[in-house]
Amino acid sequence: MNSHINIISRFKTEGDIISVKPFGSGHINDSYLVTTAPEPATNYLLQRINHKIFTNVGELTNNIRRITKHLQQKLISDQARYGHFQTIHLTQTRSGGYYTQDEEGNYWRLYNHVRQSRSYDMLENPELAYEGGKAFATFQYLTSDFKADTLFEILPNFHNIAFRLSNFREVVRCNPAHRVRDAKEEIDFVESRVEEMHTILRLGELGKIPLRVTHNDTKCNNVLFNPENKAIAVVDLDTVMPGYVLYDFGDAIRTGASTGAEDEADLLRVNIDLDLFTAYAKGYLGIARNFLNTIEINHLAFSAKFMTYLIGLRFLTDHIDGDHYFKIGFPGHNLQRARAQFKLVQSMEEHFTAMRDIINKALDG
Ligand SMILES: Nc1ncnc2c1ncn2[C@@H]1O[C@H](COP(=O)(O)OP(=O)(O)O)[C@@H](O)[C@H]1O
Ligand SMILES: [Mg+2]
Repeated sequence: MNSHINIISRFKTEGDIISVKPFGSGHINDSYLVTTAPEPATNYLLQRINHKIFTNVGELTNNIRRITKHLQQKLISDQARYGHFQTIHLTQTRSGGYYTQDEEGNYWRLYNHVRQSRSYDMLENPELAYEGGKAFATFQYLTSDFKADTLFEILPNFHNIAFRLSNFREVVRCNPAHRVRDAKEEIDFVESRVEEMHTILRLGELGKIPLRVTHNDTKCNNVLFNPENKAIAVVDLDTVMPGYVLYDFGDAIRTGASTGAEDEADLLRVNIDLDLFTAYAKGYLGIARNFLNTIEINHLAFSAKFMTYLIGLRFLTDHIDGDHYFKIGFPGHNLQRARAQFKLVQSMEEHFTAMRDIINKALDG
């Protein structure tokens, strides 16, 4: 705690620090809740930034500062409309920056902790799914007038299917861990859908869908809820970049509306949960129908299939490559993850007409 207090003392905080405790279940950064007194002083969230993944902490911080400032201005100018929705913001250091580096080279930052908030690791019911959809749509709506291409591309080609496929084929060709033979079925699964999976990239290249500010990690544990379970903020802004909204919608469905875990071993348990999908789509489109274009709306159902395929492809690539990127819990873990994703793709294929109907209904209100 002492070394944490030393770090915190470099920031312009209010109140006296009472405790510093590990916080949350994020997998990327290390987070600590910093409580202060007397009430109602602000509490804080101290984070050690994962600088192995985010190598350019300066640009990362700049993106976050610019986006949160924009959100703040919009929320102040139209408070009545957004009610309890709020933004997180970075605390300034005493030397005027928004992060600090310790003696070991780690980078640290300090967010305000959103009062009386909690997050969920799963969309446990349709009410939460509805609120999750609303939260990400609100985030996108509030940033829809921000010039997305002025943001730094923190993780280049993150959802670029052409880039991911080219990596995949190269790894299959080199076969460094001798795993190609046992992944034949999955490799065929990928190759048989390649054409269709270029759809979003092509629409972007043709200028039919705009580049927008996207979050790129639209899991439900990046949404904060108040005690009445209303969504009040979107957090985890590290991957905010220029992108297509379809990536954000699709990944929210992939992570939030599956009946199985991301690495479910029993594939019979992996399906699209149409009740959660319906609720998320309703919450999302209630707001997003006001700013998305028709082509974006027409591809929302497809985007869920696409993102599930894309992440499955990345798991499969990493498996064949010898597990260098995703941490594994046991041998074959990445292959199991890929299989679960591909089973979810199949389930979405089977229910695709229903998914499109659900989007159309959600659009009508
Ligand atoms: N400003 C905040 N106020 C309250 N809770 C937060 C705040 N920021 C993050 N959290 C919580 O901490 C968890 C981890 O933070 P996050 O920024 O998502 O880190 P990671 O990149 O490791 O996922 C989140 O899932 C959320 O529950
Ligand atoms: Mg997170």
